[in-house]
Amino acid sequence: MHDSGSLFGWLITAGFLLTLLNYPVKLVYRKFVASRPRESKFRRIYVKFQRFIVSNHRFFAFFTALLLLTHVIIQMLYRWFSWTGLIAAGSMVANLLIGSYGHYIKKRRPSAWLVVHRAAGLLLIAAITAHVLKGGR
Ligand code: HEM
Ligand code: HEM
Repeated sequence: MHDSGSLFGWLITAGFLLTLLNYPVKLVYRKFVASRPRESKFRRIYVKFQRFIVSNHRFFAFFTALLLLTHVIIQMLYRWFSWTGLIAAGSMVANLLIGSYGHYIKKRRPSAWLVVHRAAGLLLIAAITAHVLKGGR
């Protein structure tokens, strides 16, 4: 069970990074792709890729939450309770709610929710890094 516990931990981390891609993918578009001519092949392919990442953002997040649930169940049954894990999981669940609020209630219009949503993403990077560096303690 040790291995599957760590495996799910790494799967959550991968799902989280996929969710987070939203930001750098748009940044790269603004900085390097938007200036290319409309008929450029590279631009067309990049826009398709960006649309995939952005429109599936919430599903990456929801799927990651399922992996998180599995990780927590395995760790609580076979390993130990983790404070850094709890902080990471708490921030992730909170951000799931903030993102859902922004998407379904605010209809994706940026306002204060998006600032908090991005900040929580940074907090999550810190919390997950701490959790991994402490080997899940
Ligand atoms: C966003 C939330 C979380 C992420 C991304 C995450 C990620 C990870 C990763 C990548 C590992 C493997 C570390 C390694 O192999 O060195 C791990 C281990 C572990 N995690 Fe989490 N975790 C999260 C939440 C939690 C929570 C909420 C708990 C407990 C309540 C927890 C308990 C543990 C334990 C006990 C280990 C050590 C497993 C072992 O060595 O057997 N984690 N986690
Ligand atoms: C742990 C989970 C999540 C993380 C770490 C996360 C992270 C982020 C980040 C970093 C951005 C900024 C992108 C930008 O600046 O354009 C963003 C934007 C956004 N997120 Fe999330 N998010 C999560 C979950 C969700 C969920 C569950 C939803 C909806 C149900 C959601 C909806 C949105 C929306 C609507 C935007 C605004 C811009 C856009 O449409 O791309 N997020 N998210």
